[in-house]
Amino acid sequence: MSCSFKRLSRCECHEVAFEEILRYSRLLGTDDLNSLMERIGFGQTCTACHCDVKALLSEQSREMVDAELEPASVVAPNPRFP
Ligand code: FES
Repeated sequence: MSCSFKRLSRCECHEVAFEEILRYSRLLGTDDLNSLMERIGFGQTCTACHCDVKALLSEQSREMVDAELEPASVVAPNPRFP
């Protein structure tokens, strides 16, 4: 997803860093932009940050899914089943 020439790192209008938005997203277990905007209070003025926030939330969700699909760490062999 490509949003703007220069990717933002925070909601400039409300001075909320994207890191904070991602932290709340993980904490609340949601990547819904509207829910996060209401809870945190960003993105309600010019909306220029919406595209970048959506892209970051999407990347975070993909990373979380990928992590869940990683094979479990090596399991010790069961001596009963050589
Ligand atoms: S930059 Fe987020 S509302 Fe303006």
